[in-house]
Amino acid sequence: MATSLPASKPLLATLKGVRQPIAPIWLMRQAGRYLPEYRTLRAEKGGFLALATDSETAAEITMQPIRRFGFDGAILFSDILMVPWALGQALSFGAGEGPALTPALVDHALTGLQPAPERLDPVYATVARVAGMLPAGTTFLGFAGSPWTVATYMVAGHGSRDQGETRRFAYADPRAFGEIIDAIADSTITYLSRQIEEGVEAVQLFDSWSGSLSPAQFERWVIAPTARIVAALHDRHPDVPVIGFPKGAGGKLPAYARETGADAIGLDETVDPAWAHASLPADMPVQGNLDPLALIAGGDSLDAAATRILEAFADRPHIFNLGHGILPDTPIAHVERLLAHVRRAR
Ligand code: CP3
Repeated sequence: MATSLPASKPLLATLKGVRQPIAPIWLMRQAGRYLPEYRTLRAEKGGFLALATDSETAAEITMQPIRRFGFDGAILFSDILMVPWALGQALSFGAGEGPALTPALVDHALTGLQPAPERLDPVYATVARVAGMLPAGTTFLGFAGSPWTVATYMVAGHGSRDQGETRRFAYADPRAFGEIIDAIADSTITYLSRQIEEGVEAVQLFDSWSGSLSPAQFERWVIAPTARIVAALHDRHPDVPVIGFPKGAGGKLPAYARETGADAIGLDETVDPAWAHASLPADMPVQGNLDPLALIAGGDSLDAAATRILEAFADRPHIFNLGHGILPDTPIAHVERLLAHVRRAR
């Protein structure tokens, strides 16, 4: 297909291992509350789930940061918690409270949940719409949460500081917990395959809480299920790169890179770029890893922080990104400054 030639899409080419003269850039959570045009739509429609299940609106929100900034990648507007919703939990996003899933699975395991896979249909419709709207050079990214991170929300019923309830459950009843992980992994494989079939060109697995696990539990609940998802996706869609983003994995990153089969690896802002460059396979594309607070601060220190990352990864395929999601109080002008800096840097 002429439209998917890597040369015309710098971000996709980078994910396929072809280093670009100017690092392609997108920002995690680039569609969201720091954008006035997002806040306007959110106020009209009232709430995240109403936005995410209205395909026309979700497609528009996906396009907002592309229109405003011309990022090299567009990420589907949805959420990692759509999978628990499709597995049958009730999902709500209370204003200022973060998401809630009921019933929490601590005492229930998976019994009693009535799967509702049709809840994901609007997401697939959003993907199809966006695929028809994107500029030719923009790479379309789908995503899902990784089983461990999604399980921490399903088990506790909400976000938590140290994922303590879920870590305890995983030690106390690894069989029941393994069933939850397997169910999430199965539904994630279907979910990402459908996104690919509707038009995304690469997918990212967000493992936001992988940093809370001991090395043995990391092998079992992060690496193993991630490897299973990656293998299934590669089997069905061999040309579609998978980005793994095990936030907080630190010294476990090389094992994650070697053992999961992920095509590219996302780095959070606590990772030293020079260490990552020396420790990860030489040809492996990396993504990251500017501190979102440096972007809020702006000015010369923003330029210096970005330059340091660009220089450390100058000799390998590198996608410029933040180390985690852009924060709601980020000034638009600082995003513009970062883009200009990255695009003139080499
Ligand atoms: O722009 C993009 O990156 C695409 C959309 C996207 C959202 N969530 C939209 C969203 C993506 C990729 C996510 C991933 C996500 N969601 C993660 C993994 C990355 C991370 O941040 O660690 C996690 C853990 C979630 C779960 C989640 N969703 C939480 C904890 C919250 C509430 C707190 C918060 O940060 O807003 C959400 C809601 C959510 N997801 C919003 C958006 C734009 C905010 C909704 C609103 O209030 O307008």
